[in-house]
Amino acid sequence: MRRKTDYEYLVRLGLELSGVQDVDLLLERLLLEARKVVNADAGSIYITVPTEPNEEGTEKLAIKYSQNETLQSQLLPGEKLAYTIFFVPINEKSISGYCALTKELVNVPDMYNISPHVSYKFNSAFDKITGYKTVSSLTIPIISYNTQVIGVIQLLNAKDLEGNVIPFSPNDELLLKHFANNASTVLQRAFYTKAMILRLVKTAEMRDPKETGAHVNRVASYAVEIYDRWAFHHNIPAEKRDRFRDDLKISSMLHDVGKVAISDTILKKPSKFTPEEFSIMQKHTIYGASLFDDITSNVDILAKDIALTHHENWDGTGYPGWVNPDTGEIIKEENGKPVGKKGEEIPLSGRIVAIADVYDALCSKRVYKEPWSEDNVLSELKSLSGKKFDPELIEIFFEILPNIKQTKDKYPDLPD
Ligand SMILES: [Fe+2]
Ligand SMILES: [Fe+2]
Repeated sequence: MRRKTDYEYLVRLGLELSGVQDVDLLLERLLLEARKVVNADAGSIYITVPTEPNEEGTEKLAIKYSQNETLQSQLLPGEKLAYTIFFVPINEKSISGYCALTKELVNVPDMYNISPHVSYKFNSAFDKITGYKTVSSLTIPIISYNTQVIGVIQLLNAKDLEGNVIPFSPNDELLLKHFANNASTVLQRAFYTKAMILRLVKTAEMRDPKETGAHVNRVASYAVEIYDRWAFHHNIPAEKRDRFRDDLKISSMLHDVGKVAISDTILKKPSKFTPEEFSIMQKHTIYGASLFDDITSNVDILAKDIALTHHENWDGTGYPGWVNPDTGEIIKEENGKPVGKKGEEIPLSGRIVAIADVYDALCSKRVYKEPWSEDNVLSELKSLSGKKFDPELIEIFFEILPNIKQTKDKYPDLPD
């Protein structure tokens, strides 16, 4: 990046980032852009989360994303790096912990030669496992408008034009400070949007205890993973892909909000539904879709599609079929009933969420069942390919299984 245009670039970037609505996608994007701004080979982004009662302090750092250009280049195209979810205490012992504690930027030219006069140390465990050599690092807190640390960005191995690893410069420090300011604004807005969505989900959860925050977070994250790989196979341009995945992430969380309109006696019935009760239950798709009758954004369009079609089957045996959710009018009928949508008549978003929702339901404990074993879940999904599910998407699901499993660990169910 040429220095003269650095700030112009940052201003444009700030505007672009303010268009990203979903917290996770925003964090991933922030890390990517922060790396670009200072030409860093690798990095991680953390957010602060509350500690458990037996841990020190009131908050700790949770790693959200890690990127590593060098390690990524050793993978096949479309593959993603697997990384473990871990937490860092906010104290003076680690660099990121120190940064969050003191709210100071930390610039270390050589991680293997840190001054003995500072309190923090470099943990070389990652280098040992991966064979990567970390040299320089630049770590900065993301501070909210009320001066709380909401996250930390850590960048590793600045590179010069020839690709040699060099220390981060004083100019890099300035650019990153400016960037962290932007990041704070857009991140706080995304946190706010997420809180609003989760409140809506909570309303549905009060009616149907299966629709927990953890469930919808997992379903939305799986959906994005599946879409990402689909977009890669279909050569969808990066910009279009990023916009769609952002909208998909938010709208898939709302797949079952229509359950707010179904009565408790049906939703909480511990035994099997009568055919009549089942047909009432099926209406949650239509009720959900009708919540988005005032379309003002792409999220509304997708949320409507997903709510309406996430129980349609690839072979046409699902529900609610060809119905106008706003008027209740049947669009295509056979024997007085709506014809099921099939194949690509079902929007991509609905086909994706169908897989994500069923996978998560089978893996989870419910009042009426224990979680299925992984082998059983996977063979069930395979056996439903071409019947319930889009065969191409099932193939994709198996391709990205390691990422799916990793995503699952990110949003564990709360203990009963
Ligand atoms: Fe549903
Ligand atoms: Fe669900």
